[in-house]
Amino acid sequence: MSKTFYIETFGCQMNAHDSEKVVGTLKQEGYTQVSDEAEAGLILYNTCSIRDKAEQKVFHRLNEYKRMQGEGKKFAVIGCVAQQEGQRIFERAPYVSLVAGSASYRNLPDMLQRLEAGETRITGLDDRQTEETFDTEFTSRSNPHRGYITIIEGCDKFCSYCVVPYTRGKERSRTSASVLAEAQRIAALGYTEIQLLGQNVNSYRDPSGSRTFAELLLAIGEVNGIRRVRFTTSHPRDFTKDIVDAIDAMPALCDHVHLPVQSGSTDVLRAMQREYTRDWYLERIQWTKDAKRDISLTSDIIVGFPGETDRDFEQTITLLEAVGYDAIYGFKYSPRPNTPAIHKHDSIPEEVKVQRLAILNARQREIQRQNYARHLNHTVEVMVEGHNTTRGQVIGRSSQNKTVNFTCDTIPSIGSYIDVNVTQVFPNSLVGEAVSSPLPPSAALLAQQALNARMPALA
Ligand code: 5AD
Ligand code: SF4
Repeated sequence: MSKTFYIETFGCQMNAHDSEKVVGTLKQEGYTQVSDEAEAGLILYNTCSIRDKAEQKVFHRLNEYKRMQGEGKKFAVIGCVAQQEGQRIFERAPYVSLVAGSASYRNLPDMLQRLEAGETRITGLDDRQTEETFDTEFTSRSNPHRGYITIIEGCDKFCSYCVVPYTRGKERSRTSASVLAEAQRIAALGYTEIQLLGQNVNSYRDPSGSRTFAELLLAIGEVNGIRRVRFTTSHPRDFTKDIVDAIDAMPALCDHVHLPVQSGSTDVLRAMQREYTRDWYLERIQWTKDAKRDISLTSDIIVGFPGETDRDFEQTITLLEAVGYDAIYGFKYSPRPNTPAIHKHDSIPEEVKVQRLAILNARQREIQRQNYARHLNHTVEVMVEGHNTTRGQVIGRSSQNKTVNFTCDTIPSIGSYIDVNVTQVFPNSLVGEAVSSPLPPSAALLAQQALNARMPALA
C-alpha cells in the first residue's frame, strides 16, 4: 500500500493540469495511482482558494481524512490553499505530512524522498521568490485528445480581489523552445489539439527573447499534426493586436478569445486595480470584431465588488450588450485573505449580489440566444468528444469552443473531426447533422487512448 497514491483535484484548468504533472512525477518516482482512497498509501489534495470559504472546505475534508489515520496513510495538501495557509495546516491537521504550493512542485521528487524517510512536516512554500517553472516530461495526461501545456506560471497583476499572486508566485515564462518541444512531443503521441495555459497566458515573455506570444501561437499552429490551438486566460492589459492578426493568419488557431473584463464600470475597474478602463477594453474587443474570422468572445465577471452601485452594475450590463459574448462566467465577489480588497467593507449585501448575478445571467442568456442563431444552416467543424447513447447523438466541440450535438450515420471515434450542418440552436449549444465522413484520429492517438484506458482517471 505504501507506494500507492490517490489524488483529488479542485479548481481551475491550471490546477487540473498541475495534477497531471504531479501524477506523472509520482509515477516516475515509482508510485501507482489508485482510484479508491481506501487503497492509497498517500492521499494528495490539490486545492483551490479563488473564491468562497475554500480554507474551511479544505479543513473539513481533512477532518474526513483524519478518520482514516490509523491505517498508516500519509496526507499531502498541495495547491493554492497549501501556499496560503502554510504551516497552519500542520497545526490544525497534524496528520498532514506535506504542504506544498504550486511554485515548489519541481522539488517534488526530493519532497517525496523525505516523506518516504519518515519526515512529517515537509513544506514546499514559495513566497514569490521562484523564477523557475515546473517543466516535466512526465505528464500523465488524462484527456486523450486535448493536450494542455503551461507556458507561464504565477501572476504579477495584483487585482485587488484576487489571491493568485500570493498563491502561485511571480509571473515566469518557459522558453518558447521548451514549449515547442513539448508541443512536438504530444503531437507525435497523436494529440491534435493543444491548449496553452497561464493565469495570464498573453503576458508570456520568452526568457530567451526569441518569440512574442503571438509568434509562439503561430509556431505551435505550425507543429505537424496540430489542428487546433487554444489559449487561456488572456488579460486585457497585455492583449495586443498581433494576437488577432495571428488568429486571422493561421486556421489552426481557434477563433475564440477568453478575455475577462470583470466589470463594465471604469470606477469599479479602478477599485479592482485592473489597470484598464471600459473604453480601453472595448477597443481590444473592436480589434477582434474587425478580424476576418468570426472570433468568439467569452468573459469572467464579478458582481457585488465593494462599492459597486446600481449604476456601475448597469454599466456591466450595457457592456455585455456592446460586446455580445458567447459565454460568461459570473461570480459574486468573495473577500479573500491577504488581498487588498479584504480591507474594504464587503458593502454589497448577499441578496443584492444574488440578484445582480441572476440579472446578469438572464441578460447573457438572451444575448446567447441571439448570438448562437448566426450558426443556423451553417457548417461547423466539430471535434468528437463523446457519444450520448440514449439520445443517439454524438457530442463534440467547435473551434469556437461551443458544444455541438449531432447525428451521424456512422459512429465517429473520439478525437475525430467532422463537418456538421447546424439545424437547431440553443443558448448553450448547437444541434445538427454530420455532412462529411469523420476524419479519424491517427493510429498513435488510438494507442494513447488504449494506454489512458489502463490508467485510472484523475479525480
Ligand atoms: N471573488 C469573486 N470572483 C473572483 N475571481 C477571482 N477572485 C475572485 C473573488 N475574490 C474570479 C474572476 C477571475 C475568475 C477566475 O475568478 O472573475 O477571472
Ligand atoms: Fe487574479 Fe488579476 Fe492575476 Fe487574474 S490577473 S490571476 S484576476 S490577480
